[in-house]
Amino acid sequence: MRADTHAIRLPHSGDAVLVCDLTKTYPGPVQAVRGLSFRVGAGEIFGLLGPNGAGKTTTVGILTTLVRPTSGTAMVGGHDVLGDPLAVRRSIGVVFQDSVLDNDFTGAQNLWLHARLWRVPDAQRRISSLLGAVGLSERADDVVWTYSGGMRRRLEIARALLADPCVMFLDEPTLGLDPIARRDLWQVVRALRERHGVTIVLSTHYLEEAQEVCDRVAIVDQGRIVAEGRPAELVDRLGSEVAELVLDGDATQLLAALDGQPGHVIRASSSVSIVSPESRQELTDRIGALPLAELNVVRMTVRPATLNDVFLHLTVTRDRPDLASAAGSRA
Ligand SMILES: Nc1ncnc2c1ncn2[C@@H]1O[C@H](COP(=O)(O)OP(=O)(O)O)[C@@H](O)[C@H]1O
Ligand SMILES: [Mg+2]
Repeated sequence: MRADTHAIRLPHSGDAVLVCDLTKTYPGPVQAVRGLSFRVGAGEIFGLLGPNGAGKTTTVGILTTLVRPTSGTAMVGGHDVLGDPLAVRRSIGVVFQDSVLDNDFTGAQNLWLHARLWRVPDAQRRISSLLGAVGLSERADDVVWTYSGGMRRRLEIARALLADPCVMFLDEPTLGLDPIARRDLWQVVRALRERHGVTIVLSTHYLEEAQEVCDRVAIVDQGRIVAEGRPAELVDRLGSEVAELVLDGDATQLLAALDGQPGHVIRASSSVSIVSPESRQELTDRIGALPLAELNVVRMTVRPATLNDVFLHLTVTRDRPDLASAAGSRA
């Protein structure tokens, strides 16, 4: 299908999203967001990454005007979420963590309903173009309950794009999808940015996948940003290769043997990882030269470092001060 020229918009200059010292405390009290600040440039794909409970959905809720912040400011598409929520809503498309599709209608009918609601001009052509863009042309006239999880998500993305938003928010778009459907969905997201120039803010707990799709990310933990930047830069700052040592027994001797050696040591419940700037061969040789069996190591794997390692490095160190010396930087 031909690109929808109607939908092409050149990235405008300036920030698509500007968040300053945002907090949200729910009754309880639960401090879901504890002072987030970040910006998203027009045309960027920006990832809010972090585990369950990190505050991602709350942040997306604030930026889409559904959750009222406790303090701080947030501008989306140049509009203040508190001062002009209607203007914000007109500038955005949202794919929520929970589906909002009507399962008894076809894919095309779901889009029609939304197009009517938002008075989308030239709706028929736009719907057919967007169905093509998300790979659903063939299934447009099937009822949604016959769709796979991945197809539903792609239909929701088409729905979110109908009103031609400047900024699209995707909250955990790949949650519950199998790995192939997840990969397909990330490809759709990237293609949409290339084709429509829309700014995309997505949240996910799949840090390694986000590394492939996002231009920049903020890694969020317990309502705070623990790292922000381009995925490759964040990973490179930590190291290029990881030696993962699976343990059967106590880690004390291994940690002592690694003390003073290069790299960052990350301790998990039954494994120890060493993230290092060395080449794969150098790291393999150095760790392999240790008396691994005597140190309770039953398996060693060497692989490239990922954003997940960045997250573990930053959070294990903080949560376990007793292990901080082992997890600290000695590179
Ligand atoms: N409506 C709510 N009322 C009270 N607590 C909430 C509410 N929504 C979320 N929370 C709590 O806020 C924290 C952050 O949740 P959430 O923003 O959903 O994180 P994430 O999307 O990263 O999993 C969690 O501890 C969660 O239990
Ligand atoms: Mg969530």
